[in-house]
Formats: sequence, structure tokens, C-alpha cells
Amino acid sequence: MARHLITSALPYINGIKHLGNMVGSMLPADVYSRYLRQRGHDVLYICATDEHGTPAELAAKERGLAVDEFCAQAHDAQKAVYDGFALAFDYFGRSSSAENRDITQHFARKLNENGFIEERAIRQVYSPADGRFLPDRYVEGTCPHCGYDKARGDQCENCTRVLDPTDLIDPRSAISGSTDLEVRETKHLFLLQSKLQHEVEQWVARHEDDWPQLASSIARKWLNEGLHDRAITRDLDWGVPVPADTWPELAAEGKVFYVWFDAPIEYIGATKEWADQDPANRDWKSWWYDVDTDVRYTEFMAKDNVPFHTVMFPATELGVREPWKKVDFVKAFNWLTYYGGKFSTSQKRGVFTDQALDILPADYWRYFLISNAPESDDASFTWEHFTATVNKDLADTLGNFVNRVLSFSRKRFGDDVPAGGEPGEAEAKLGEEIARLLAEYETQMEALQFRKAAAALRALWSAGNSYLEEKAPWLEIKTDKDGAALTLRTAMNLIHLYAVVSEPLIPATARAMRAAFTLADDTASWVSADEARALSTVPAGTPFTVPPVLFAKLTDEDLETYKERFGGEPA
Ligand code: 2FM
Ligand code: ZN
Repeated sequence: MARHLITSALPYINGIKHLGNMVGSMLPADVYSRYLRQRGHDVLYICATDEHGTPAELAAKERGLAVDEFCAQAHDAQKAVYDGFALAFDYFGRSSSAENRDITQHFARKLNENGFIEERAIRQVYSPADGRFLPDRYVEGTCPHCGYDKARGDQCENCTRVLDPTDLIDPRSAISGSTDLEVRETKHLFLLQSKLQHEVEQWVARHEDDWPQLASSIARKWLNEGLHDRAITRDLDWGVPVPADTWPELAAEGKVFYVWFDAPIEYIGATKEWADQDPANRDWKSWWYDVDTDVRYTEFMAKDNVPFHTVMFPATELGVREPWKKVDFVKAFNWLTYYGGKFSTSQKRGVFTDQALDILPADYWRYFLISNAPESDDASFTWEHFTATVNKDLADTLGNFVNRVLSFSRKRFGDDVPAGGEPGEAEAKLGEEIARLLAEYETQMEALQFRKAAAALRALWSAGNSYLEEKAPWLEIKTDKDGAALTLRTAMNLIHLYAVVSEPLIPATARAMRAAFTLADDTASWVSADEARALSTVPAGTPFTVPPVLFAKLTDEDLETYKERFGGEPA
């Protein structure tokens, strides 16, 4: 059985992420990891903050903090939110770690030895007032394409075109505002991706049939446009330093690697951080080096990250000429929109992950987001849809079922699972239905089809409701006490089954459902088809308690409050 290595795109250090970021990378990676762990697989789920680059330097400056100080605080703030969302990383690292520095420098040395790095002199914007070069976002000015006057040196936010700082009209320093800028020649390292084009093409060709269409089409598009050589160093203070043993002159000038060069390497770096902080952890290299088919590597990301993961990072890994593990499956997501418009960090539009947790516990969000994951197309978040989903699926179909069954049984039969009655036709029919839906749920999880997996889970919950309505134990008890006991016992077995299989999506609720039963030895990590059919894991006589209401119903008033606070109109 292959071991599973799982990574989700590294959230950039700057700023708390919104729900769209969460559903397009970390949350589905967590759901998948939890599912595989439950099924008995050896899983390593790694993520980290992506900390280098100009946005971090600028944000630190704005707050009057040293950049390392800013990153340490911002990392902790993001980690706290992810803990709140119950993301069960095996390790959540930092791309500014010593481990990542060492591996990044190693990769660069190897690429150089293999003839894939070249030093080139290029023209860069220099600011005498600031006494430094101004890469990327350190220059602002007017976009030459659309005339937007706050375009940044790396990209115009208005027309989304990728820019070079020297393209900007009326450029000014983002640090001091100085317009006294000049263009100076400076040396940088270039990664000769053009030399790797053919190899990357062959590698993609071997994998793209397995990937979702979204991932393979983006990879194809980039390959068809041709891989360009690109500068992988910058004139910044904050980043992985160019190693002095290989490039003494550039190192002396203080050059660092470009953030997109060291960020994906941090998947490996963070694995080493994980191993370094606890000697009990397995040798980090056994997950990454010379493992080929022993490890299955799945990456999660939103579509804007796909080129870096399907083309550029594989090019780097191929050029190193060492057997580093490359991705097997790329799970890419479209955008989650907010009322059809963009979630915007800068315009504070939409719902941020910390705010979400202020309003409601993680399971509400986890379930809604996974049920509406933007897989085949963009999906839209609206408060109307959110409250309707919570009320119908979570409060009524699941929560109410659990409460109704346990409360009624306690009232009529006391604190233990009631004895009596023999399973008949209704139970056999239910068992078949549950086994079929469970198989569907497993199939969709294994195919990483999250919306469909959530739909199968919802169908499992609904099947319990239909059974209960059909048997109506509150009427049955008047004429057939044993029959009512059988119905309730069967329903309680459904609750236990729900506790086990709902865990990947709603872990806290799953724990509360399972804790309702005092089973002597409850180690069930999954449910076999036979167990699903039999519905007898929880025997008569098992003590139980009634958990507090699992999901609160959201009122019209709640809906209005959310819309007022966050804005609930199309952009
Ligand atoms: O798009 C982003 O937010 C990047 N920080 C993702 C990096 S993913 C990986 F390559 F590090
Ligand atoms: Zn523009």
C-alpha cells in the first residue's frame, strides 16, 4: 500500500485568507488526508506559510516591524485560524526556515552544475533615495496597457497583465514615493527553463491523463506557449541568500532567490522541519527522495497556481538530476466567488477565515465549502445559500435526526440502547441502501470529487430520515414496543456510522456523535460494507447520552445580520 504525501499550496504570509482560499487548497487537502488516515493509510500532510518576497517586506514596513518579526507573528495568526478550522496538518512550516534555505541552495547548486543556471546582466529600476534596487511591487506607476495609475511592478491589478517594473509609466518607489528613479544594470541568476521544455513536456504527457482537466489544460497551455528562461534572484534583504560558495560576487551583493523559486521547495523543506522538531518522525527523505511509486503525492491548489506546480517546479526538480519525488495528482480548483464577484483581500470584500470562525464553528463552514467546492466551474458564495444549506442539511437532516432519536429513546426506554425486536424487511432495505451509498461516498473520495462525496454523505444522512419517517417509532411504540426499540436501536447504529464516516468533513460533530455512546472498545476507523448492511455495531444495552444540539438553525434575522455586516449584493 503506497504512502500518501499530501500538500496544499502554501498560503502567502501576508494577511488572513478568505473562504475562497480555504476551499481551493487547505480544506480539501485536510478532508482527503483525514479520509485516507481513517482508511488506514500512512499519510503525511504538509503545508507552510510562504514568507519571502516584497509583499512581506512592505507589510512589515507598514507595521513598523522587522520583516522576520512580522512573519513570525503572521505565521502564528494564520496557524491559529487553521487550528480553528481543524486542519490536521502533520506539519505547518515556514518557508523562511533554515531547512528550506539549505535545500533551496542545494537545488540551485545542482541546477548550476547541470548547466541550467546562467548569470545575466539585466536592467533594473534603482532608487538613489532609497539606496537600493526596486524589484516587483517596490515600484508603482501607471499601467502601459490600461492606464491604471496604481499598477505594481509585477502586475497590474486592474487589467491583470503581468508587468516588469521598467514597463511602468511615471514610476515611483513604493517605499519612499521617490520619483527620482533610474535604470541600472545588475547581475541575476536565470533558470534556463527553455532547455528543460522537452523533458517537462514528456513528463506532463505521462501524467496529464490522470489529472483533472483543469490542471492538464493549464499545463498544456503553458507548454504550448513555450517555457522561458526566468530570473530566479532578486535584490532584496528578505529571502534565501544566493550561496557564496557558488556565486561569491552575487552573494556579496546580497542577492536572494525569488520567492517562487524557494516556495515549492518548501514542501520538502517543511518535511525536514517536521522531522527535525521530533526525532520520532520518520526520516524526511523517505517521503521525497528515490521513492517513485512507494509514495503517492497529491497536491491541492487553486487554478492560478497550476503553472507553477505542473510546469515550473517539475522543471526545477528535473533539472536537479536527483530523484526527487514529483507530483502524481494535481487537484486544482476554480474560484469561489462572493455573490458572483471576486473575493478581494485589498477591498475587504467577502468573508475571511477568522471572521467566519467568529460567527459559527468550523464544521458549518467545512461542510458548506466542501459541498460547494468550485471543482468543475466557479462556485458562488451567498449568505442565502449558506443559511439554507446549514438549516436543511446540517440542522434538519443530520442534527435533528440525532437529537430526535436519542431524546425519544431516552424518554421511553431510559439511558441504554433498547433491546427487543428482530430486524425485518425495512432494516434489510435500509442496510442495502446504506451499503450502496457508503460505496458511492468511498468512490468519490478516492476520485477526489469532493462535491459528489459530500452529496453521498448527505444521502446517507437522508436515508436515516426516510427510515425513521417510514417506521415512525413515536406511533409504533403505542402498539409494538419491541418494534419501536428495534427502530431506535437501528437509528442509533446509523448515528454511530455517521460519526465514523462524517469525520473527514465535520470532525468536531463526528466526535460529539461518537461520544454519545459508551462502547467498551470503540476504535472503529471505518465501516465495512457488511457492517453498513448489518447496522449492529452498537448493541442493545450500550449506555448513551443525548449531545447538545449539533447545529443551530440560522434565522432570517441571522441572514440579515450577515448580509449587513459583509455586504450581500453582486459586485
Ligand atoms: O499563490 C500563493 O499564495 C502562493 N503563496 C502559493 C505558493 S504554493 C507553493 F509553491 F509554495
Ligand atoms: Zn493595466
